[in-house]
Amino acid sequence: SSPLKLGVAGLGTVGASLVRLLGENGEAYERRSGRPIAVAAVAARDRAKDRGIDLGAFQWFDDPVELAAKAEIDVFVELVGGAEGAALESVKAALNRGLPVVTANKALLAHHGVALAKLAARKNTVIAFEAAVAGGIPIIKTLREALRGNMVSRVYGILNGTCNYMLTRMEREKLSFEACLAEAQRLGYAEADPTFDIGGFDAAHKLTILTSLAFGSEIDLESVFIEGIERISAEDIEAAAELGFRIKLLAVAQRTESGIEQRVHPAMIPASSALAQVDGVTNAVAVDTDLLGSILLAGPGAGGNATASAVLSDVLDVATGARIPTFGVAPTGLVPYRRARMRAHEGGYYIRLT
Ligand code: NAP
Ligand code: HSE
Repeated sequence: SSPLKLGVAGLGTVGASLVRLLGENGEAYERRSGRPIAVAAVAARDRAKDRGIDLGAFQWFDDPVELAAKAEIDVFVELVGGAEGAALESVKAALNRGLPVVTANKALLAHHGVALAKLAARKNTVIAFEAAVAGGIPIIKTLREALRGNMVSRVYGILNGTCNYMLTRMEREKLSFEACLAEAQRLGYAEADPTFDIGGFDAAHKLTILTSLAFGSEIDLESVFIEGIERISAEDIEAAAELGFRIKLLAVAQRTESGIEQRVHPAMIPASSALAQVDGVTNAVAVDTDLLGSILLAGPGAGGNATASAVLSDVLDVATGARIPTFGVAPTGLVPYRRARMRAHEGGYYIRLT
């Protein structure tokens, strides 16, 4: 059958891994999806940059929007990053053509997800985003498909690989905050602007997507309480350890008496809990439900191959014509997080985990 032609915008950590894997494992993906999957066009800023992949066979675009609007492709894969500009305009251009979009861009979805989902529905196409939350952990499909019969009361976990990697190395190797951040950047874990990681914004972007899937509510970044790890020092980590705790950047969305609350902040969690054992770039997402109690999914939360794994799952879904539902679009239930409640009931930064 005819090949599924991809337009890949962004050839950085994730895009370059995706293109390489499609080259290396093309035959297996063809067997699994029933049709060849071929990169037809790519876009990035610097045509001369060595990305460790051969781009000779692909149509080159300097502008992702032009690729999305004009290239002869069947699927647009957005791996540019950023909530506005080239990422937003190129995704809109692709959806306006009725092309399915696959993206790893949680910032884009946190800010424009509802509008983009509505545009996709109007154009009778889809926007798929398994890679947007927790890297390689299949949490989108888990919430959307496997847990469909459950009522979720809480979804929470470690959603930023950069911060978890930094906190782990600060604790284990006594490295400085700055040295750990530089290493996370070198390894391709951090966002282009790492303020999004250390400021808690990236975890908040991801949390809004999980909240929407878990509770059927609209994506809403405004109501998320956000505090990052910038003020966490080696002394804090040491003091927590002496008391039997580890410090993690947690993202939590839970149903409360007043509504669904969303928050991101550093938390002291008991060293013996499963979440406290999650080290390095690993992410973990716990889901509390009526039928299951609590389940925990853990795995690589950032990096080229881990993220490409999730992008490939969406691309293969498109290739096989799988149904790809979107997030909740009902403006229901979200309330701003009340910090006072955390202080009163959870003792400041101490989080009780059952
Ligand atoms: P990256 O390494 O910074 O790569 C971004 C790519 O986009 C680069 O190839 C860059 O071109 C290109 N680009 C950026 N702005 C452009 C513009 N205006 N016009 C043309 N090309 C442009 O980013 P990444 O780490 O691969 O992340 C890509 C997306 O995946 C982001 O949304 C990120 O949040 C998400 N994500 C990343 C990870 C991860 O572990 N890295 C994990 C999950 C999700 P040049 O190379 O020429 O500069
Ligand atoms: N910068 C993000 C992180 C990439 O460190 O978790 C994965 O979304």
